[in-house]
Amino acid sequence: MKLPLARGPLSSHVLALLEAAPSGLPAPDGWADEVQDVLGDDDLQLALWILYELHYRGFDGVPDHEWDPHLIALRTRLEQRFEAELRQCTAGYVEAALHASEDLFDQVMVVVDAVDGPSLPRYLQREASSVEMLDFLTQRSLYHLKESDPHAFVIPRIDGRAKVALAELQYDEYGAGRPARLHAQLFADALDACGLDPAYGAYVDLVPGHTLAVNNVMSLFGLSRRLRGAALGHLAAFETTSSVPCRRIAGGIERLGLPTVVAAYFHEHVEADAVHEQVAIRDICGGLVEDHPELRGDVLFGVAACLHLDVLAARGLLGSWERRREDAVVRQVA
Ligand SMILES: [Fe+2]
Ligand SMILES: [Fe+2]
Repeated sequence: MKLPLARGPLSSHVLALLEAAPSGLPAPDGWADEVQDVLGDDDLQLALWILYELHYRGFDGVPDHEWDPHLIALRTRLEQRFEAELRQCTAGYVEAALHASEDLFDQVMVVVDAVDGPSLPRYLQREASSVEMLDFLTQRSLYHLKESDPHAFVIPRIDGRAKVALAELQYDEYGAGRPARLHAQLFADALDACGLDPAYGAYVDLVPGHTLAVNNVMSLFGLSRRLRGAALGHLAAFETTSSVPCRRIAGGIERLGLPTVVAAYFHEHVEADAVHEQVAIRDICGGLVEDHPELRGDVLFGVAACLHLDVLAARGLLGSWERRREDAVVRQVA
């Protein structure tokens, strides 16, 4: 993957470090302290995304800096701000769920019902233009081309029933023994069929801060043993809110007459994720909380963080399309 373009002082600094010897350049004073909108800041979220990618596929022509202590220190500072902001935004949902029930499944559902936002899948199903649908696929490519990889980091951090169930779910996501059925490959095939670039990370320069945050939160949780409960809560939220939306998105793709392989990716998730929802909440999160009751709050934090960031990203995407339509009307009138 090529290095992304810088979007401000934070991402510029990280890119300069990757191209030089990382320990040679000190962090700027007050590194990241001035950022106001941590969850949506293009520059901060891109800097974090670049630092996380050192733990996935890396960048073309960049030496192996994965465990450089200077880069890890910078990442930790960005993560502290990111996690603090997420905890603050989601504390109310977690508290309400803990008071509503003692059953984990019910608590997860309380959070799912409480986090409210616009329905992007419904818009894609009924109204989106072909350009908007391709825009959506482009934005989603950042995650789906490494689908399930962030949650796979959790496997060595857990044990027993939760570990077995997570491995079972991941086996499906990783193609159930067939490389052609790897979900990341199915998404690459869908991009290719639409004439989009299926290369890993190809569209990072087009992805706004909120969508980078949707991706970064999975790495934040997956790469920290302390946050394993949040990582599994995130997975449960992801699976729980996938089946019906995927049916809607597939319907939109068929309405627009895009190649069948594109809808096939989403159809694959309609049934699979209805099953994964049960496995993720009852066996993976349920198994974890049974062994570690102290992680229940973090599981619910992961659920709420996933859904909260999804809402922000959906609002951003729908807003950008609305502005584009308004601009087109203004140009027509002029
Ligand atoms: Fe999948
Ligand atoms: Fe799934």
